[in-house]
Amino acid sequence: MSSNSSKPGPKKEVIAIACDHAGYQLKTEVVKQLHELGVQVEDLGCSNAHESVHYPEFGKKVVDKVLSRPHGRGILICGTGLGMSIIANRFPGIRAALCHDVSTAVMSRRHNDANLLVLGGRLIGPQLAREIVQAWLTTPFDGGRHQDRLDLLEQLAGPRPETNR
Ligand code: RB5
Repeated sequence: MSSNSSKPGPKKEVIAIACDHAGYQLKTEVVKQLHELGVQVEDLGCSNAHESVHYPEFGKKVVDKVLSRPHGRGILICGTGLGMSIIANRFPGIRAALCHDVSTAVMSRRHNDANLLVLGGRLIGPQLAREIVQAWLTTPFDGGRHQDRLDLLEQLAGPRPETNR
């Protein structure tokens, strides 16, 4: 979670979210949950499950938003979550975690300070997704030795943009 609140989806935190056609149905559930939690949602598409679209285009939209804000965070959903993970993790500063269970979501925050949650819309149901999102939003980063590893990761992979620090 960003450092500026202890609430799930800190006050006025904006979560950017996008999906492809295979993730559309689950995205509607997650957007509903985020609204219930009082999180501000920036829905960057796609807009239906019927028209086949290209996941990299929607993944990049969320990547740009996450990197444009201090402590920015986002959620991406495609069929398996794999395509969205692959596109997102090509960008320095993005730590995208594909989570099919709550434990991975928790650890992605505690150890990896994941700033992007990726879900597989064809692999998990709405209830599990809800639990994953809740855990991911509310679990803080442990810091310490894990921060050292993130620093190393950035050294090796290239710096993140000034705007994301
Ligand atoms: C779309 O059919 C599917 O390939 C996409 O949603 C995703 O699973 C790709 O990794």
